[in-house]
Formats: sequence, structure tokens, C-alpha cells
Amino acid sequence: MTQICGVQSWCLGVTFWLILAAVLHQGFATVAPPTTAAPHKDLGRPERGNYLVAGSNGTACLLASMGLQLNISFSSASLNKTQQEVMNLQPNVTKSSGSCEADSASLRLTTDADKTNLTFYFTLNTTSNKYHLSEVSLSAAWPDMKEPFSTHNNSLDYLQGTMGFSYMCHEEQTLDVTQDLSINTFQLQVQPFGLNGGQFGAAEECQLDEDDMLIPIIVGAALAGLVLIVLLAYLIGRKRSHAGYQTI
Ligand SMILES: *[C@@H]1O[C@H](CO)[C@@H](O)[C@H](O)[C@H]1NC(C)=O
Ligand SMILES: *[C@@H]1O[C@H](CO)[C@@H](O)[C@H](O)[C@H]1NC(C)=O
Ligand SMILES: *[C@@H]1O[C@H](CO)[C@@H](O)[C@H](O)[C@H]1NC(C)=O
Ligand SMILES: *[C@@H]1O[C@H](CO)[C@@H](O)[C@H](O)[C@H]1NC(C)=O
Repeated sequence: MTQICGVQSWCLGVTFWLILAAVLHQGFATVAPPTTAAPHKDLGRPERGNYLVAGSNGTACLLASMGLQLNISFSSASLNKTQQEVMNLQPNVTKSSGSCEADSASLRLTTDADKTNLTFYFTLNTTSNKYHLSEVSLSAAWPDMKEPFSTHNNSLDYLQGTMGFSYMCHEEQTLDVTQDLSINTFQLQVQPFGLNGGQFGAAEECQLDEDDMLIPIIVGAALAGLVLIVLLAYLIGRKRSHAGYQTI
């Protein structure tokens, strides 16, 4: 190694690439908060549940696999003020139902004893063959709520996918529904239209996931450049030392 670094310009080049790789990695690490953000300490990640809606012929017409975390602000009876509460949906006590129409589909998730009813509505644009999550409604009657909580928003535009394909997002994603409700999704895969024999179609990955894959690609490219430079430096160095011997 010391021999290779005998000529200073190579060392400079190598150092430059090392620093560039380090800086790029550092930079991307700070740009991508979903992975590095402090974990929700008290709760941890929600467990991933598999939910389906069956069509008239008995096969699945809507499939969803995801971990769900509800973030609600409601007025607390005991504290007599507005309180923020985060709750993980537990798949083993959550039932799914819903409906599938030509251009609309819904997935209704109900937790044990009907204390939480969460419904996702999807819309298909039959001209463009694109679907999206257009509405979410939630009603909840949790122990400390002053009055039952109920909210909905029918002008949403999340989870956009193509007919026949599933929408996939491994990264945590936040769906802001209303001021009082947001939903964090984890390891999400959903398909509300055009299932293939009750199975997920090929997946369309969300932007967050693609950004995540970009980091190793960039670091890899930087490292490949580094290897190339070291190799070139070595070859040039060999040539020079040969030339050196010949002149003696
Ligand atoms: C819940 O929502 C509040 C208000 O929008 C936000 O400050 C907080 O970070 C959220 N918590 C989680 C775990 O998403
Ligand atoms: C459906 O998609 C077409 C083509 O992209 C667009 O012009 C139309 O406005 C969309 N329809 C609805 C109801 O969004
Ligand atoms: C959830 O839906 C069920 C069935 O429609 C209903 O009986 C229950 O009261 C609902 N729960 C809440 C919190 O609205
Ligand atoms: C519903 O969602 C849209 C799009 O995110 C947002 O602009 C609007 O403020 C929301 N409506 C309510 C009542 O929160």
C-alpha cells in the first residue's frame, strides 16, 4: 500500500473518492428521515396484518398486507383536554370486510368489540386505469374518550397504482387524513382492483422505497470508481517503474 501511494496524485485521487463516498452516504442518511427517525419508543412497529375482501365469486377482489398505526387527537375525559394517542392495530383482533365495484372498492377494518372502525375507499379512473386511495373514515370509542371520535376525508390522493398492479411501500409512510387523524403504514402492499385470480399482481414500488435503493447504488458506483482508480494507478505505476529500471 505504501508503495502504491508513493506518487502523491494517486493518493489524492483515492482520498477524494473515499471522502466523496463518505459524504454521499452521510448526506443521504440525513435526507432519509423515515429510516433514521427515532422509533416510536412506547409502541414499536405495528404487526403486519393480511386483509382481504372477497368478491361475489368467493375469490379475493381486494388484498392488503400492512402494519397500521393510528395517530388520533381527541378530547380526553380524565384529563379534560385534547390528547394525542398513537395506537397499533392488532391483526389478530381485527376483522376485514368491504366491497368491490367496477370503479370503487372499500376495505373496512373493525377491531375487537367494535371499538374502532377504519375504512379505506379506493377509486379507479377507468379512462387512465389508475387507482388511488380517495377516502378514509374512522370512528372510534376508546375508554378515555369524552365522546365517540368520528372523522373522514373524501378528497385524498394516496397509494396511487395502476389497474392490475399492486402498490407497495416497505418504508413507513404517513397518510394525513384530517387534523385529528393520521395513519402510519408499514410494509404496505395493497391492490384494490384487477387481482389476478385472487393474488397480488406485480408490485409498483413507492418513491420512498426507490430513494432507499438509490443509496447503495450511489455508494456502489463511488466504490467502483475508487477500485478503477487504484487499478489504473497501479498499472501506471508499474509502467513507470519499468521505464525507470531501463534508464539505469
Ligand atoms: C402524531 O401526530 C402528531 C401531530 O400531528 C405528531 O406530532 C406526532 O409526531 C405523531 N406521532 C406519530 C408516532 O406519528
Ligand atoms: C381520469 O383520467 C383522465 C386521463 O388522465 C383524466 O383526464 C380525468 O380527469 C380522470 N377522471 C377523474 C374522474 O379523475
Ligand atoms: C363500528 O361499526 C359497528 C357495526 O356497524 C357498530 O356497531 C359500532 O358502533 C361501530 N363502532 C364505532 C366506534 O363507531
Ligand atoms: C382532506 O385531505 C386534503 C388532501 O390531503 C386536505 O387538503 C384537506 O384539508 C383535508 N380535509 C380535511 C377536512 O382535513
